Order: sequence, then C-alpha cells, then structure tokens
Amino acid sequence: MKSDLVVRMARICLTIALITFCAQVETADEMEDDSIFEPSYLSYDDIYRDFTQKKMCKRCHPAIWREWERSMHAKAWEDPIYQEAASQVEDREKKCDPCHAPEPILITGIGKMPKLRAEDRKYGVSCIVCHIDAHGAMHGPHKSDNPMYHANVTSEAHAKPTELCATCHGQPSVPEHNQVASFRDSPAAEKGLNCASCHMPAVKRTLSVHTYEPVTVRRHTWAGSRSVSKLRSAANLKIVRAEGKATVRLTNKAGHLLPGEALRAIILDVKISDATGAVSRHEKAVISEASDKPEHSRIPPGETREFVYPLNDTEKIEAKLLYRLIPTTPETEWITMADASQ
Ligand code: HEC
Ligand code: HEC
Ligand code: HEC
Ligand code: HEC
Ligand code: HEC
Repeated sequence: MKSDLVVRMARICLTIALITFCAQVETADEMEDDSIFEPSYLSYDDIYRDFTQKKMCKRCHPAIWREWERSMHAKAWEDPIYQEAASQVEDREKKCDPCHAPEPILITGIGKMPKLRAEDRKYGVSCIVCHIDAHGAMHGPHKSDNPMYHANVTSEAHAKPTELCATCHGQPSVPEHNQVASFRDSPAAEKGLNCASCHMPAVKRTLSVHTYEPVTVRRHTWAGSRSVSKLRSAANLKIVRAEGKATVRLTNKAGHLLPGEALRAIILDVKISDATGAVSRHEKAVISEASDKPEHSRIPPGETREFVYPLNDTEKIEAKLLYRLIPTTPETEWITMADASQ
C-alpha cells in the first residue's frame, strides 16, 4: 500500500516536472517569436526619433548608409549651392525648401508636391523620406520574410521608381529640376529603363546585417553632375571629315535633357591647326544650357547636334566637350566629358 503511494506520487511529480519543462520550452519559442518579430516593430514616432537621434538605419544597413551619406540626397539641405540660391528667394519655405528637406513622401503622396519638415532639416532627403509609411513600415521592392525592428511592405513603386523620383524630379511647376518629363519619351524609356537603371547600379549583397543570403539590390549612390564617369557616359562626340569640311557630332546618351539641370552648361572647345601645328582657329562656346535660343537649348535625349567647320586636307581638328557645374565655376574646374580629333 505504502509503496504504491510512493510510486503514484513519483509519477505525479514526474508529470508535473514534464509539463513545467515543456511549458518552459514553449515559452522560450513563443518569446523568440513575440519579442523579435511582430510586437517589437516600432511605431512611426519611435523610428522617426531613432533615425534622427541614433541614425538607426546605419546599424543594420551600413553599406546603403555609407552610399547615401556621400550622395547629394544626404546633402540636399546643407549643399552650399542650394543654400545660396534659396537665400535669394523671398518665399523659400513655400517655393524651395519642401523638396530639399521633405516630410516622408509616402505620407504626403507619391507625385504630390512634398511638404517641408519642421525639424532636422540637415538630413535632407533622408532614408525615411523615401521609405517610411504612416505606420512606421518600410516600403521596398523585396518580399522581406525576415523582418526586425520595422515591418516591411513590398512596393512596386520602389522596384520601378520613376514615379517615386518624379515627386521631386518631375514637378511640372519646377521645370529647372525636371528630368522626368524629357525622360518619358526618351530612347532609354523605350528600352524599358527607369531612373534607377542609371542612377542606382545593381549589386549583389545582403539586405541587412541580419540577412545571410545575398540578393540583387541597388546602390544608393545617385551619381550625377559631380561624377566624372557619369559625365563621360552622357555624350558621344564624333568628328566626320569630308570634302573640305569637318562635322563635329554630339549625341546625348543620358536618359533626359543634357545637361540635366538648368544651372549647368556644356561647352564645345574646337581647335584647328595647320601641318606645322600652329593653331589657326580656336573657338570655345556654350552649346547646351537652359536657354530660349534653340541652337543653345538643352539637347533632348537621343538627339544629335552638329557643328560644321571648313577644313583643308593638311589641317587637323581637335574637339573637346567641357562641363560647367554653375556659372561661377572657374575654367580650371570644368570637366572634360569627351574628346575627339581628326
Ligand atoms: C519640386 C521639388 C523642388 C523644389 C520646389 C525646388 N527644388 Fe531645387 N532641386 C530639386 C531637385 C530634385 C534637385 C536635383 C536635380 C536638379 O538639380 O535638377 C534640385 C537641385 C537644386 C539646385 C542645384 C544644387 C546643386 O548643388 O547642384 C539648386 C541651386 C536648387 N535646387 C535651388 C532651388 C531653389 C532656389 C528653389 C526655389 C525657388 C528650389 N530649388 C525648389 C527639387 C526641388
Ligand atoms: C531618394 C529615395 C531613397 C532614399 C533617400 C533612400 N532609398 Fe532605399 N531604396 C530606394 C529605392 C528606389 C529602392 C529600390 C532599389 C531596388 O530596386 O533594389 C531602395 C531600396 C532599399 C533597400 C532594399 C535593398 C535594395 O537596394 O533593393 C533598403 C534596405 C533601403 N533602400 C534602405 C535605405 C536606407 C537605410 C536609406 C538611408 C541610408 C535609404 N534606403 C535611402 C530609394 C531610396
Ligand atoms: C535592427 C535592424 C534594422 C534596423 C535598425 C533597420 N532595419 Fe531595415 N531591415 C532589417 C531587416 C532584417 C530587413 C529584412 C531583410 C530580409 O528580408 O532579409 C530590413 C529590410 C529593409 C528594407 C527592405 C524592405 C523590402 O521588403 O524591400 C528597407 C527599405 C529598410 N529595411 C529600410 C530601413 C530604414 C530606412 C531604416 C532606418 C529608419 C531601417 N531599415 C532600420 C533590419 C533593420
Ligand atoms: C540612360 C541612363 C540614364 C537614365 C535612364 C536617367 N539618367 Fe539621369 N543622368 C544620366 C547621365 C549620363 C547624367 C549626367 C549628365 C547630366 O548631368 O545630364 C545624368 C544626370 C542626372 C542628374 C543630375 C543633373 C544635374 O545637372 O545635376 C539628375 C538629377 C538625374 N540624372 C536624374 C534622373 C532621373 C530622375 C531619371 C529618371 C527620369 C534619370 N535621371 C534617368 C543618365 C541617365
Ligand atoms: C523627396 C525629394 C526627392 C526624391 C523622391 C528623389 N530626389 Fe533626387 N534629389 C533631390 C534633391 C533636392 C536633390 C538635389 C540636392 C542638391 O544638389 O542640393 C537631388 C539630387 C539627385 C541627384 C544628384 C544630382 C547631382 O548631379 O548633383 C540624382 C542623380 C538624383 N537626385 C536622382 C534621383 C533618383 C533616381 C530618384 C528616384 C529613385 C530620386 N532622385 C528621388 C530630391 C529628391
């Protein structure tokens, strides 16, 4: 009788121990699910604060952060050329600042004129300007099944971002900063390219430091007018020689008007020399800039502009295409985009 009781007691104890043990294992599993995934997503306000105070995105997306940090998007507010230009505009908070320090555009609406941020303007066009929605979720082209810290939303607007870019680069009321309008019926658009094809080069790497499988993503570099290699890819310069003349042919290979923005200018520098090497003619003139004169105006994408020079058989012609960032850029800082000789 006594020993029976002992056995029964022992069984009960073992069962209780097992239940407790199993419950503990289950709690640990659930804890992992619960604390790392859904309930730990931060709110919009928390992420906004973490971005400005702790630069949180950098911790998990360091490669993208480094690229963005050096881009003109990061400098869109502090850029001295911008500040100088905006300081001359009376109503700058309405007319200028909204795109140079915007509220997140998924909240104000893709395609709609952005709104000026009240605070932290120094971050310019920051990560959250392009990615965060009103719930604090990040929109991107990937089906992220390994979310942490923030929720993810798969977004076609980011996979083919021309409309996203057009929010600031395609406002009809701001023609000097409009690359999208001329892009729409360009050879690049016909080929199915978009703004990211040329300005966010594809690269294989992991989506975050917590991800192990590399996938195809895009660099956040946005190279443009400050990149010599980008400028060298923008135009094709060719000289064709025939019957007492030389034709200098310049073709726009960018995805939009060349130059892409209204402050810039492209200069053609042509030298003709005789057999002894003595220069008989030297011309240097702006051939493409924001202008009402058709022969000077910016070159549409895919188009060729020709310049003809009389040239006899013994003469040599050299042509150089130069790029001037702003009207006050000294000649020593003009960039050579292309050269050719015949
Ligand atoms: C619709 C959005 C938008 C508005 C409004 C806007 N900008 Fe911009 N701004 C841009 C974009 C996009 C760029 C970059 C592309 C470009 O340069 O065309 C830019 C670039 C610039 C640049 C060139 C800076 C550099 O260093 O290359 C200057 C200068 C500038 N803006 C001044 C202004 C001024 C002054 C105003 C107000 C009169 C203004 N912007 C209003 C979107 C805007
Ligand atoms: C001007 C808008 C813009 C800004 C600013 C921006 N991104 Fe992006 N981001 C995009 C676009 C467009 C894509 C989609 C690229 C693609 O097709 O892969 C993207 C993709 C991503 C992705 C997914 C990986 C990839 O490349 O597809 C991550 C992660 C990301 N961005 C993080 C960031 C972080 C962090 C910052 C700030 C350091 C930032 N982004 C700033 C537009 C932006
Ligand atoms: C604690 C780490 C962590 C932080 C901090 C973080 N992310 Fe992420 N992010 C991730 C992970 C993990 C993924 C998903 C990767 C995957 O699916 O493999 C991701 C994915 C993304 C994506 C891609 C979404 C998609 O589906 O295409 C974007 C965009 C993004 N993050 C933007 C940001 C921005 C902007 C910040 C800063 C405000 C930020 N992240 C901060 C961990 C983080
Ligand atoms: C076929 C490649 C290609 C495509 C597509 C393309 N671009 Fe460009 N982009 C270039 C080249 C090359 C330059 C350098 C020459 C120049 O500044 O015009 C450039 C320059 C720029 C600049 C700098 C302009 C300046 O003077 O500061 C901006 C801004 C820009 N592109 C935005 C866009 C946007 C927005 C789109 C989508 C509508 C786009 N690009 C599509 C090739 C491309
Ligand atoms: C929220 C507004 C905004 C959005 C969205 C945006 N940009 Fe910009 N972008 C700017 C501003 C403002 C500048 C100019 C910064 C400056 O020079 O002061 C700029 C600069 C650039 C430049 C560099 C111009 C140069 O040569 O100096 C490129 C290239 C560019 N953007 C491409 C893109 C592409 C591609 C997209 C879409 C993926 C995009 N941008 C989306 C506002 C925006």
